[in-house]
Amino acid sequence: MENYVNWFRTAAPYINAHKGKTVVLAFGGDAITDERFAAIVHDIAILSTLGLKIVLVHGAGKAMDATLPDPGISEGAARGRRAVSPDDLERLTGHAGLLRARVEALLSMGIANSPMHGARIRVCGGNFVIAQPLGVHGGTDFGHAGRVRRIDREGMSAELGSGNIVLLSPLGYSTTGEIFYLGRDEVAVAAATTLGADKLVFLEDTLLTDASGTVQRDLPLRLAQMLAAESPSPVLDAAIVACQGGVERCYVLDYRHDGALLCELYTRDGIGSMVNRDSYESIRVAGIEDVGGIMELIGPLERDGTLVRRSRERLELEIDCFSVVERDGAIIACAALYADTPNRSGELACVATDPGYRRSGRANRLLEHIENRAREAGLDRLFVLTTRTAHWFVERGFRPTELANLPEKRRELYNYQRNSQVFIKDI
Ligand SMILES: CC(C)(COP(=O)(O)OP(=O)(O)OC[C@H]1O[C@@H](n2cnc3c(N)ncnc32)[C@H](O)[C@@H]1OP(=O)(O)O)[C@@H](O)C(=O)NCCC(=O)NCCS
Repeated sequence: MENYVNWFRTAAPYINAHKGKTVVLAFGGDAITDERFAAIVHDIAILSTLGLKIVLVHGAGKAMDATLPDPGISEGAARGRRAVSPDDLERLTGHAGLLRARVEALLSMGIANSPMHGARIRVCGGNFVIAQPLGVHGGTDFGHAGRVRRIDREGMSAELGSGNIVLLSPLGYSTTGEIFYLGRDEVAVAAATTLGADKLVFLEDTLLTDASGTVQRDLPLRLAQMLAAESPSPVLDAAIVACQGGVERCYVLDYRHDGALLCELYTRDGIGSMVNRDSYESIRVAGIEDVGGIMELIGPLERDGTLVRRSRERLELEIDCFSVVERDGAIIACAALYADTPNRSGELACVATDPGYRRSGRANRLLEHIENRAREAGLDRLFVLTTRTAHWFVERGFRPTELANLPEKRRELYNYQRNSQVFIKDI
């Protein structure tokens, strides 16, 4: 029971954060025919009832794709694409129709004792994807293989705004009334970028790995591009294009992992591979080369009395205590953790964000990062002394405390002239 309550409490901030956000979920025909797919659809229904706007994009399945002739084009728009004859198209549309019906049927379940009990999920589809022919490449006419020309953003947004799930197939229709096979990834990326989706999730049977087979969990765009050059993967390529097109985060999850979607979205530690757009921004422990950048950042705040002055020598000695947000090689935010291991407590200090980058949650993320560092160091609580930022800390779970509650050594160093307020947080 206690675990359940704790889980609910830790999930609540994620539930709030994701409410109203648009998520595009792409899966292949293989996932749909897997016996575990019913559980995945139940999780999708849970996401929908938690207020996410959901677009589903299904593929045709690897086996079906493999039956199409491969002209072996390695460059340009037709790279990796297969030609589609009128007969192929007939098979593909029949198969896609079956897969679609299966997804719709599962989303309609409402039997007692299932996670879908009481949920009424509406799923809709239509002519949201406008296609054009891929054309002739390297002398090969790709026939009914097509490309996305446009996505009907207004039409889809209206459905999503009414709480409906939109289900897209790997097919699109041209303005001339023809049907084209586009492939799941192309449709998913186009839908996610056109809608300005917050997340694009690929449900696959493998995560992203490097050449040695090591799973890659967190890939800023720059690293993802390097990985794609080293170990090419269509889904990685799709994630990169989506991030370049403005999607904040793309995930690759293993659909065979029960509850993968819920774990990835509602717990602190994800379980899949993630490619994120903040290609040049990272949070990390500071090194000696960051001293100059930190001094530049905190200098003005020291001069106006917001922060306590630190000499370069002191900063160099204490640099290991600092964590920084680096963007394009510049330090744009920092915070320090002074651990008092015997007392299992730590002081959070020197929290600062460059004025040009404030109010985007950077200090918040730094605080989470510092809390993780503190937990890893075996600390139970953090305290902070502040003169002007009390509410920022209170809003993030700190509570006022007496000076007497500070560890003795820190109390002795207390500067009565500054008259800082003391706050504490259990972590
Ligand atoms: C406080 C500070 C670190 C926040 O950085 P940030 O990256 O903008 O932080 P976040 O984006 O996570 O949070 C922004 C929120 O904090 C609020 N905030 C900023 N300064 C605040 C203050 N002094 N008191 C209370 N809230 C404050 C902002 O108004 C914003 O909330 P809102 O959007 O609801 O209005 C930054 O304003 C700063 O560098 N201030 C000067 C240094 C400082 O005071 N450090 C603390 C020393 S102990």
